Parts: sequence; C-alpha cells; structure tokens
Amino acid sequence: MTDKPTVCIVGSINMDLTVSAKNMPVKGETILGDDFFTNPGGKGANQAVAAARMGASVNFIGAVGDDTFGKTVTDNLKREGVHTEGITTVPDTPTGIANIILSERDNRIIVVSGANNQVTPQLVEEKRKLIEQSDIVLLQLEIPISTIEFTVRIAGEAGVPVMLNPAPFQQLKKSVLCNVSYLTPNELEDDELQKSPFYKQIETGIITTKGEQGAAFTEDGNRQLIAGHHVDVVDTTGAGDTFNGALATEIARGKKLHQAIHTANAAAALSVTKIGAQNGMPTRKQVEEFLQEDEHHEKIRHSES
Ligand code: RIB
Repeated sequence: MTDKPTVCIVGSINMDLTVSAKNMPVKGETILGDDFFTNPGGKGANQAVAAARMGASVNFIGAVGDDTFGKTVTDNLKREGVHTEGITTVPDTPTGIANIILSERDNRIIVVSGANNQVTPQLVEEKRKLIEQSDIVLLQLEIPISTIEFTVRIAGEAGVPVMLNPAPFQQLKKSVLCNVSYLTPNELEDDELQKSPFYKQIETGIITTKGEQGAAFTEDGNRQLIAGHHVDVVDTTGAGDTFNGALATEIARGKKLHQAIHTANAAAALSVTKIGAQNGMPTRKQVEEFLQEDEHHEKIRHSES
C-alpha cells in the first residue's frame, strides 16, 4: 500500500465551451441562454485533475494544438500538479473542444477531437516509460482506438493494471476488453457492454456508475451497490471523471474495491455541487471530511439482486 501512488493517464484534453439555459432547445429552435463559461475539460484531463487532487502523482500522455486553448489547458494541468512532459503540441491542428449545454440538472455534450486524434500509438511508444513506472493506467475513449489497444498491450507487458472508462462508448476488441482489470461504464455504456460476446468474461471487472444512486460492482458472484450521496446538483459535467480519477487513485493506494468505490462516490458527489468539470473536484481532505459527516456511511452496501 502506498500513500502517493503513480497514475498514468493516456487521454483527451479539451477546452469546454459551456452555456447554461433554462431548457434544452429542441430541433430547429433558437433560445436565449443564461450564462457562458470556458473551462478546461476533456475526460482524460478531468480524470488527471481528480486523481491529483486525491493525492496521486499523475503523468499525462496526450496532445493539444499550437493555440491559446492548448496553452491554457496545459498550464491548468501544471497548476494542478499533473506532470505534463507526456503532452505533445501538434502544429496546424486545433486543441479539442467540447460544446456543452447545461439545463434541467443535466448536460448534453458534443466533442470535436482536434489534437486528441493525434494521440497515436507512436506517441505512447515514445512515452512508454511513464506507463511502465505507474501503479495503474487510466484510459477513456476520446483518443484513437488503436492507441487504446496499444496502451493496453504495453501496460500488460509491464504488469501494470489498466482501468478503462468506456466513454464515449465504442465497440472494443477482445484484446482490450479481456486485458483491462477494471471497466467503469455508466448505465448506458453498461447496456452496450452487455451486448459483447465476451461479457461473461469481463463481468467481474465492471464497476457501473449510476449517478446519485452510487456504483455497482461484483463480489463473490453477486452484484453489490455502493450507495451514492444526495447533494444539491449544480453541474454534473465531470462527475464520472471525478469518480474514475478517485477510484484509480484509491485502488492504486491498495484499498479494497468496495472502499475505493465508496470514496470515489463521495468525490463524485462533491464535484457536482460546483460549476465546471474540474472546478468542483474535491481534495482528499474534503472527501474525508464529507464522509465523516455523512450519516448513511453505515448503510453503504446493498445487494442488487
Ligand atoms: O466528461 C466530461 C467531459 O467530456 C467534458 O469536460 C468534455 O470535455 C468531454 O470530454
């Protein structure tokens, strides 16, 4: 067990362009919104910040464009203590962006990948040491699938466990699904995973996030739900990323899976109480204080069957 595990994230970096409005516009409709924000985002970068705030030493492998957004998001990661030596700047390509609409206590997101498409197997090969030196590797699906396949392979060769957050969902090869230690879908992504012919083989490594209900995992052949927390929701963007960053950190610290999920649930709950994906992500101290105050602490586990 180590108090400061090393987490390597191979993933996306975006600038989030967020508008809030009372209602979601319907097809063909123009509406007046309430607010506009630009915030650093991208599932990879968000998970990196979540892990760093939970006390991990985080190495990031990714790509940005040679533009203002690229500089801003990279500087932001540095400020968060994330090691950015693995980030490459790609000429003549824009930094990834996400167009986000916040409304009705939920969000809708369109990502334009830009430089994230240049996170190639070759780039990962160049930074291979960062993977080999890690306690865990954390991946999402906002970079090319060939890079996911390559990273899973080299992490496996180095004996480093991989957690894969299959978002946004894409079909994955057996060589990926059966060689990651943890898969962290939300409920919609879990429905898709269940269509996989390898589902039975991968079921025990699946941790399904269920919003404020909590997260489910398999123990001794039974699905168990680790209950979530009720908080005042301001912005759910990045809640799943907070869960993943915190979960990877806790697992790499040597925590039992149910304990790690309990902590990650608390981190995710705190993250939705503020606007912006990374803005509301809590520190380890804040998570620990929140858990101490939380009364249903004792009743965290329920059988799902
Ligand atoms: O998970 C939330 C993230 O998804 C946003 O920050 C956005 O950039 C998209 O990648």
